[in-house]
Amino acid sequence: MNNLIENTISFVKEKLEGAEAGHDWFHIERVWKLSKKIAETEKCNTEIVELSALLHDIADPKFHNGDETIALTVSREFLESQHAEEDTIEQVLFIIKNISFKNRGEAPENLPVELKIVQDADRIDAIGAIGIARTFNFGGFKNNLMYDPNIEPKLEMSKEEYKKSNGTTINHFYEKLLLLKDLMNTEKGKKIAEERHDFMLLFLDQFYKEWNVD
Ligand code: ADP
Ligand code: NI
Repeated sequence: MNNLIENTISFVKEKLEGAEAGHDWFHIERVWKLSKKIAETEKCNTEIVELSALLHDIADPKFHNGDETIALTVSREFLESQHAEEDTIEQVLFIIKNISFKNRGEAPENLPVELKIVQDADRIDAIGAIGIARTFNFGGFKNNLMYDPNIEPKLEMSKEEYKKSNGTTINHFYEKLLLLKDLMNTEKGKKIAEERHDFMLLFLDQFYKEWNVD
């Protein structure tokens, strides 16, 4: 492994010490590994893919009062301290800035393949068994309800509404998780997402069956 990647791993591990369990080093590690797997099937710059995967949640606005600039500042400072090339820094920062689900309405067109790969990897980790676990962990962290049959999912939320939403965790499946399969950018991503999507449908069926005790 090259030095820059190794140093980035150490930096991210230290930075994410004590993070919420769905956005901790283990999430980053899974996204990094998934990104490398998807990258094997695409023509791309793997260093940009790996650095972006490792740094993509370094300062998630959800945990920093909504501030969307901290991650960019922290990443730039780190990469400069490592004497990374300016061109590399700019490519990585562009990806960190535009990867997020809630910002998808604002993202520019013709996204670079490296972004598409890391975005698929991040979205794959949001679905399936791990996705379910992460979602309930985050809902618990926010003290949201697991489910309330009287609260409908909100399908057309603006970015601001999405950020403020404290709907139920089950509704988050309809507001985000079940939409991800059709938003995959790469063929490899689509394939992995399908299996995980089906597992979520199975989970929801069983959840409602157990909820509705008769
Ligand atoms: P991004 O970081 O790509 O903008 P999100 O902010 O939607 O994506 O959240 C990332 C992950 O955090 C989700 O996949 C989910 O596990 C969890 N999460 C975010 N919002 C909620 C919510 N309202 N209820 C439950 N989990 C959530
Ligand atoms: Ni992430």
